[in-house]
Amino acid sequence: MGIEIIATGRAIPAKKLTNNDLAGRIDTTDEWIRSHTGIGARHIADEGVAASDLALEAAQNTLALAAEKTGLSGEALAQSLDLIILGSTTPDYYGVPSTACIVQDKLGARNAAALDITAACTGFIYGLELAAGFINMDRSRKRALVIGAEVLSRVADWNDRGTAVLFGDGAGAVFIERLEPSGRGQRGLVRTILGADGSGAESLMIKRGGSRHPYQGGGDDGPLRVEMDGRAVYNFAVKALTETIERLLAKEDISIHDVTRIIPHQANARIVQAAAKRLNIPESKFFLNIEEYANTSAASIPIALDELNRAGELKRGDVIMTIGFGGGLTYGGNLIIW
Ligand code: COA
Repeated sequence: MGIEIIATGRAIPAKKLTNNDLAGRIDTTDEWIRSHTGIGARHIADEGVAASDLALEAAQNTLALAAEKTGLSGEALAQSLDLIILGSTTPDYYGVPSTACIVQDKLGARNAAALDITAACTGFIYGLELAAGFINMDRSRKRALVIGAEVLSRVADWNDRGTAVLFGDGAGAVFIERLEPSGRGQRGLVRTILGADGSGAESLMIKRGGSRHPYQGGGDDGPLRVEMDGRAVYNFAVKALTETIERLLAKEDISIHDVTRIIPHQANARIVQAAAKRLNIPESKFFLNIEEYANTSAASIPIALDELNRAGELKRGDVIMTIGFGGGLTYGGNLIIW
């Protein structure tokens, strides 16, 4: 039994902040940001827009596409969902309720279980595997939504040029369905690798707000913000990207030439360039849209999947790798036959 992605969707805030816009606010330049990261702009959610708002829009767009494909109404599809799983570093609320529950209610997915997962930028990769496992555990389950949604502009430190330039807001989603065996060869999610190295936890953190450092407000207790050891994360990311690709190839006993496209987490174009060089594969094998959106953490891979899908660039039979890495530290990859 396998699962297939039958529809994708995304939500991108209209407000766009270019590098030059940022250069007017902090000590940086378009040239530095582009040459060090490949980022040209990021989209920023309006005040009052939370992760669940972007997630809901992405989910609705996904259901609309699934409706076209299946002939069922969006409403019927929402009610047929068995699970909504949502990866986010910037949930609406810390701890409770989950952002997935808010989406479940607004979507009308009243038969779906709903939960958030915390795997930072690897959230979508983890979420897809967990949703597939959930469906495969019980034949009465059939459909799930996997969402990545972030409003990173709320936790970016706008006084720290080393991190502020890197992040953006957005959401992406996929609708997955049990794949009935059809004798036409293997399709859908073929294999996943998931991993973590918690010894690197401190290299990417939002320190305040949890039970270790409860946020109290006032005095020295500044707002929630991302703190990062950029060099340590960079080194981890290049290794994680390279090794996850190699491991997926080895486990499936295929060559890189069999892979149509690699969709990496969009953290830094230089991470991708370094991995391509180590693997001795052309950079063109990797899909990059970081120039437009910057790093949207758990949302970056489903946003990329939706861009490619809606542009008609994912063809039946294409072999796709999605590779994530990020805070935790976490990493993972999915091999999908479209
Ligand atoms: N604009 C201009 N100068 C900047 C800058 C900015 N936005 N950010 C940093 N600099 C400066 C630094 O202050 C430093 O100046 P100095 O030499 O005078 O001290 C110089 O640029 C080099 O800084 P450094 O941190 O060594 O740059 P780098 O080449 O390592 O690039 C990152 C920094 C953050 C782009 C890079 O480390 C990175 O991408 N790391 C991974 C981050 C990531 O992807 N995180 C999310 C993972 S999911």
